[in-house]
Amino acid sequence: TENTNVLFTIFGATGDLAKRKLYPSLFRLYKKGELSECFAVIGTARRPWSDAHYHEVVKESIASLEPTTEEADKFASHFYYQSHDVSDTSHYSVLKELTDNLNEKYQLGGNRLYYLAMSPRFFGTIVTQLKTSGMLNTDGYHRVIIEKPFGSDFTSANDLNNEINEVFAEKDIYRIDHYLGKEMVQNISAIRFTNNLFESMWNQRYIDNVQISLAENLGVEDRGGYYDQSGALKDMVQNHILQVLSLLAMEPPVAFTEEAIRSEKIKALKAVRLYSEEEVYTNFVRGQYTNGKLGDKEFTDYRNEPNVAKDSTTETFVAGKFLIDNFRWSGVPFYVRTGKRLTEKGTRINIVFKQVPINVFRSNTTEINDKSELPPNVLTIYIQPTEGFSMTLNGKEIGQGYATKPVKLDFRNTAEMVENSPEAYERLIFDALNGDSTNFTHWDEVAQSWRIVDRIRAAWDKQDPDFPNYAAGTMGPESAFELLQKDGFEWIWQP
Ligand code: BG6
Repeated sequence: TENTNVLFTIFGATGDLAKRKLYPSLFRLYKKGELSECFAVIGTARRPWSDAHYHEVVKESIASLEPTTEEADKFASHFYYQSHDVSDTSHYSVLKELTDNLNEKYQLGGNRLYYLAMSPRFFGTIVTQLKTSGMLNTDGYHRVIIEKPFGSDFTSANDLNNEINEVFAEKDIYRIDHYLGKEMVQNISAIRFTNNLFESMWNQRYIDNVQISLAENLGVEDRGGYYDQSGALKDMVQNHILQVLSLLAMEPPVAFTEEAIRSEKIKALKAVRLYSEEEVYTNFVRGQYTNGKLGDKEFTDYRNEPNVAKDSTTETFVAGKFLIDNFRWSGVPFYVRTGKRLTEKGTRINIVFKQVPINVFRSNTTEINDKSELPPNVLTIYIQPTEGFSMTLNGKEIGQGYATKPVKLDFRNTAEMVENSPEAYERLIFDALNGDSTNFTHWDEVAQSWRIVDRIRAAWDKQDPDFPNYAAGTMGPESAFELLQKDGFEWIWQP
């Protein structure tokens, strides 16, 4: 049987993620022929839906992809709904029976992909039950895709991992970080490892600082319950930001293979300094938004959002400086920031290069080594909403004399290219089907990321934050700007 002859079992089939990401991604794969007619999906959740209702939900979720009625019906016919209480043992025998039937009906050769897209507190129970019910005793592969959050600190992540390891081997565990499925995040390696111009300068001798911004203009929407327990540090830094950082900081892998890349990413994460309490207070700041205005839109304060505590001390913004203690990066700050209700949605990386030793074009009032009139060279990687990269250089201003001015070499994928390229979840599901876990997070990466983040959280828990401290629609609290100013830098991206 083909790899793509497979039965998906989605735990959390009625949820937001399934509707917004999973069904549309499966449809795209189906339409491109990456999924043959030989696949089936069992959707399970608590709600007592019928197959017919489930089909309507699936069709609604792909409506924006404009399938024909026939396509939509045909696609939806592969979906089966099973109402299910994840902690009730007897439900797994019902699930097993349906699984066996569908395996027959669609000729799936026993291939199974289990997708855990529900509250993480059930992850352990589900995998344990999968094993005891005998569902894993078939030929073919058994892989599990796990949504974030993977634990809420190192200890809980480790417990969860041990529980899952009782059932699945590491090679069959696909921990999703959807940032790794983004076109331009994948492009980081291409830019670094195919351009000698950059790779030869990719170190502390030529780079002044690195800036990673993951800004969002949305608030917490309807996820207040989850978010208020988590906060920006655990929601974005522990996973997405540290993953991006590891791709920027890692040594070139000996080959572009899963193992080689992973081992370099892990080494990079292990070199990230584990901060003492004092270092956390100096190098990390947090924020929470109050009401504010953006254009003609008014936003309420975080503490007023649904399912958020009225006296919440949860951070909706983090900015910080990571230091990587190895030969390549010693002394180079990696500044990161992320937050809700910022000025605009934008994910971008700025690599800020060191200046030339002397500015020979300085005005006669400035010192010989005063480079303040020369902006630094910056390589910007635009991850979203636009995709591309730009490089700022200095050139001569046209005309007589030798005034200099910044010039920008700018490349963006066209809207059409972006539209036609696969979406993050589509790529990752495709990879999981094909047994490629390069763009998933290995346990060692998750573990080290928690060790890094736990230090920050622990220090913060000892002090009461002065919240709220930034207005919705701004780029975060003053302290996020001071963080760079005190090192003599500034955020390159200031929307
Ligand atoms: C998720 C976070 O992992 O990433 C959300 O839980 C956040 O809070 C989202 O909004 C951002 O993803 P993207 O793809 O929109 O940048």
